[in-house]
Amino acid sequence: MGRDDTSLGSRQLAKRPRDPDAKGKRAGKTLEALLEEATMHLLDRRFLFVVGKGGVGKSAVATAIALAAAKDGKRTLLAIVESKERVSSFLDIPPIGTEISRQVRPNLDTVLLTPKAALEEYGMMVLKVRTLYKLIFENRLVRSFIDGVPGLAAWSMLGKAFFHSSPPSGEPEYDVVVVDAQATGHALEMLRVPLVIQKLAPPGLLRREADRAIALFKDPTESAIVLVALPEDMPANETLELHAALRDELQFPVGRLVVNRVLPELFPAEERPIFEALPGKLGEDSPAIHLARAGRARALREEVQRSSIRILDAIPAAKIFLKDFISPELGPAELDELSLAFAR
Ligand SMILES: Nc1ncnc2c1ncn2[C@@H]1O[C@H](COP(=O)(O)OP(=O)(O)OP(=O)(O)O)[C@@H](O)[C@H]1O
Ligand SMILES: [Mg+2]
Repeated sequence: MGRDDTSLGSRQLAKRPRDPDAKGKRAGKTLEALLEEATMHLLDRRFLFVVGKGGVGKSAVATAIALAAAKDGKRTLLAIVESKERVSSFLDIPPIGTEISRQVRPNLDTVLLTPKAALEEYGMMVLKVRTLYKLIFENRLVRSFIDGVPGLAAWSMLGKAFFHSSPPSGEPEYDVVVVDAQATGHALEMLRVPLVIQKLAPPGLLRREADRAIALFKDPTESAIVLVALPEDMPANETLELHAALRDELQFPVGRLVVNRVLPELFPAEERPIFEALPGKLGEDSPAIHLARAGRARALREEVQRSSIRILDAIPAAKIFLKDFISPELGPAELDELSLAFAR
């Protein structure tokens, strides 16, 4: 089962009241600030963005983190970006829509972010009055203009998640917002949008919100990117590329690297060559040939797993390993078990 490499020590820090001057000090990166960042527990951040290649388990990981946060007593929102959401089957709840589903578990709300619904809310945030909104945003010409502005839909979804974590005024409704993002390319595009707005938009609400969001995303004590990878060759290498883009281009802190679907090692490393050679030695007519082939396949898979975890070692983030359930679909029991890996 998984384990949070940095969970030790975070216990004491969690009890410590937040230092009101901490932000100012962090800008200069005092030793104390660096230490706090390194030892903070994942669940003490208010904004968590889960990314990775398609199908690696982003939704499962985002759900598990959200469950862990909710069980930790945090008011938690799991925001799912515009996909065929699987979270409702993971939690065995009715399909999740664009209206917030409240208390799907104690302390846990969830919502689907779609460009249309998010834009509407964003429009409402700006225009305040629904009839005015309808007049402007549902006008065919305006609509086609909006659809043509690259990034606006992505920003409205990210901005909505950010808004729940950090409204422009007043207290946030949630202590932790977990975003179950789309696969790599789309997720990177989404994260780039506020940086583009910051560079290009004239001063005003849009720019102010982008500035605030970027400040939050870049602050490693407030938010973290959670990278999800599989222990396989190609996905491991693609995760390195994704990490490089996040670190070098966007400069958003990667808080954890989750290696999902890890198989327990059945063969000690030194015995693997024996199992790899066994089918050849036994010959086709041996009564044990199928068993020997299964042993070889498993030994090879374990070798690939080891070498891809070595590739992933290049990413300087604490790793969390999650087991492979080898079951056709995950449900509430599996998700509860996965959530333990993110618990305090
Ligand atoms: N640890 C695990 N053990 C077994 N099955 C898993 C595990 N993690 C995820 N799965 C299964 O893998 C499939 C993909 O998982 P999930 O939906 O979380 O991936 P995703 O990265 O969100 O996919 P997408 O890119 O389509 O959004 C699901 O069928 C899920 O049940
Ligand atoms: Mg998903």
